[in-house]
Amino acid sequence: MADQLTITSPDDWHVHLRDEQMLERVVADTARAFRRAIVMPNLRPPVTTVAAARAYRERIQAACPAELDFTPLMTAYLTDDIPCEEIESGFREGVFTAAKLYPANATTNSAAGVTDLLRIDSVLDCMARIGMPLLIHGEVTDADVDVFDREATFIERHLKPLTLRHPDLRIVFEHITTEQAVDFVGSADQNLAATITPHHLHINRNAMFAGGLRSDFYCLPVAKRERHRLALRKAATSGDARFFLGTDSAPHERSGKETSCGCAGIFNAPHALESYAQVFDEENALDCLEAFASRNGPAFYRLPVNSDCITLKRRDQLVPELVDGLVPFHAGQILSWTIV
Ligand code: NCD
Ligand code: ZN
Repeated sequence: MADQLTITSPDDWHVHLRDEQMLERVVADTARAFRRAIVMPNLRPPVTTVAAARAYRERIQAACPAELDFTPLMTAYLTDDIPCEEIESGFREGVFTAAKLYPANATTNSAAGVTDLLRIDSVLDCMARIGMPLLIHGEVTDADVDVFDREATFIERHLKPLTLRHPDLRIVFEHITTEQAVDFVGSADQNLAATITPHHLHINRNAMFAGGLRSDFYCLPVAKRERHRLALRKAATSGDARFFLGTDSAPHERSGKETSCGCAGIFNAPHALESYAQVFDEENALDCLEAFASRNGPAFYRLPVNSDCITLKRRDQLVPELVDGLVPFHAGQILSWTIV
């Protein structure tokens, strides 16, 4: 049994770094293990212009400790009336790596999101033409659809028709949580990929209700039944190039989580790579961790893989109850891998 693992340095293809004081608190947690990260644009106000993305990128770089080699990759927040020119010029200038689709009101800070995919059809045409990836939060928002069915329903109602309308559009189905999503991505062509979070590999929906209401395990899309978790673990550890690492680390203040209407989001950045390593170890698939964490993402985004390496050792570490005043995923638990 291998007790040390050296892989090409990984990237995080989906993270919420926030802004201002929260950004200062969390950016190093991501930059310590990941060389690059796709930074989500759901700030208030959202990042909808090239100028805003450029300024946000500078704030991230300024907040990141100088000794850490970290490149934030910026995304545009799609709205009903975002101009094609803004998207295209941001991509061509190397400011926008991708654009993020939040269905309006699907999740945190998504009120300005897209109300109907048909309204941005010309933007999607443009993105397909220039090869710019579309990142999708894949949940319907209809109040009459059960919250646990919103991802599977999104596939049927929106994602399938979208891939038929825009076969050349390169799409990342973000933070997938269901076997339906695994099956759909697995049977699609190379233009469709998916990110998988550490928490959806570790927990099922019971975690939110274990002995009481546990807001630390509430995120969107919400964790599903055990059979979905098992399907995600199989996909992530399969080596299939269409599945790659995206933590969806989404920090919220304690006061925002512990309240009668708590925020969705799990803060997993401090131990994300070790958390994934544990899953791959449990699945006897440590040899596939590098593909998932360091190779499949760059291949989809058409970027070079990182040129340096990171080493993990089989060594227990106790995850603290709090990191910078925030509850990290795995708080109080022992993880069996440590970055050296
Ligand atoms: C994210 C956040 O807090 O910004 N929350 C979450 O539960 N994942 C938004 C998102 O990615 O849906
Ligand atoms: Zn997210």
